[in-house]
Amino acid sequence: MEMTMFIPLLLMICSFSTAQLQEEPDNKTIPHGKQTESRGGEPANASDHQPAYPQDIHAVLREMSALLAEQRVEMNHLKRDNEAQAAKLEGQTTVVDNLKQEISQLQRDNEAQKATLMTEVDNLKQQLQAKQVAFSASLLASGKGHLGPFNTHTPLVFRRVVTNIGNAYNPNTGFFIAPVRGAYHFEFSIGAEGNNSHSSGAWLVKNGENIFIAWENQSNGYGSSANGATLLLEVGDVVFLRQYKNTRIYDDGNHLSTFSGHLLFTM
Ligand SMILES: *[C@@H]1O[C@H](CO)[C@@H](O)[C@H](O)[C@H]1NC(C)=O
Ligand SMILES: *[C@@H]1O[C@H](CO)[C@@H](O)[C@H](O)[C@H]1NC(C)=O
Ligand SMILES: *[C@@H]1O[C@H](CO)[C@@H](O)[C@H](O)[C@H]1NC(C)=O
Ligand SMILES: *[C@@H]1O[C@H](CO)[C@@H](O)[C@H](O)[C@H]1NC(C)=O
Repeated sequence: MEMTMFIPLLLMICSFSTAQLQEEPDNKTIPHGKQTESRGGEPANASDHQPAYPQDIHAVLREMSALLAEQRVEMNHLKRDNEAQAAKLEGQTTVVDNLKQEISQLQRDNEAQKATLMTEVDNLKQQLQAKQVAFSASLLASGKGHLGPFNTHTPLVFRRVVTNIGNAYNPNTGFFIAPVRGAYHFEFSIGAEGNNSHSSGAWLVKNGENIFIAWENQSNGYGSSANGATLLLEVGDVVFLRQYKNTRIYDDGNHLSTFSGHLLFTM
C-alpha cells in the first residue's frame, strides 16, 4: 500500500528534476511565443517545456516531502487501524464459531431429549393400554344345552364374548392371563337344570389352585349359583373356571353361565 502511493510521487519529482536540467542550459530563455503567459504559473502542458525556477522546485519538493511524511504517518495509522480491525474481526469470528458450536450442541441435546420423551410417551401408552383390562363372556356361543357330566374336573371355555378390552381373556382356551401386576376382580355364574343325579358347580382357579366355588343341587327347574373373588395377580398368572366332576352345567339364550373380570388397579 505504501509503495503504490510512493511510486507516483517519485515519478512526479523525477519529471520536475528533468525539466529543471533541461531548462538550465537555455539560461532561462523562453521558447518562442510563450513568454508572457507561462511566467509564474505552473507548467500546464509537458510539451510546452515551460521553465520553472529552482526555488519553486525546492518549494514543491519540500511540500512533496512534507506530504509524503504526512502520508506515511497516515498510512501507519491506517495500518494500525487495519490490524486492530483484523484482530477485532478475528475475535468476532471466534465468538461466532463458539455460538455455532453451542447451537449445534443445543440441537443435539434437543434431539436426544425428544427421543427420550418419545420413548417415555410410548412406555406410558403401553402402561395405559395394559391398565385397561375388562372382559365378560357367556358359556355357549349360541343356542341352549348342557356341559357334562365329566368324570374329572374340566376347564370351562366361555365362547360368547361380550367385552374383551385388552384381550387378556382367550375365548378359545377359556384362560384369562394377567397383562400387568395388580388386583383383579372376577365374577362367575353357573347355570343349572334340576337333576336328581347331577348338581352343577365350578371352581374359580388361579394357576391351577382352586379359589372359590359356585355350587347348586336342585332336583328340578332352572337356577344358577354365583361367586366372585378379588385376586392379586402377577404378570402371566392364569385364571379360569373349572367344571366340577360329575356335574351338569346349563346355558341358553338367557346366558345363565357367565365369566367376567377386570383389573381394579395395578400394583
Ligand atoms: C546567459 O545570459 C547572459 C545574459 O543574457 C549571457 O551573458 C550569457 O552568455 C548566457 N549564458 C549562456 C550559457 O547562454
Ligand atoms: C497543451 O498542448 C496542447 C498541444 O500543443 C495545446 O493544444 C493545449 O492548448 C495546451 N494546453 C495548455 C493548457 O496550454
Ligand atoms: C339328569 O341327568 C342325566 C345325565 O345327563 C340325564 O340323562 C337325565 O335326563 C337328567 N334328568 C333330568 C330330569 O333332566
Ligand atoms: C342333592 O341333594 C339331595 C338332598 O339333600 C341329595 O339327596 C342328593 O344326593 C344331592 N345330589 C347331588 C348330586 O349332590
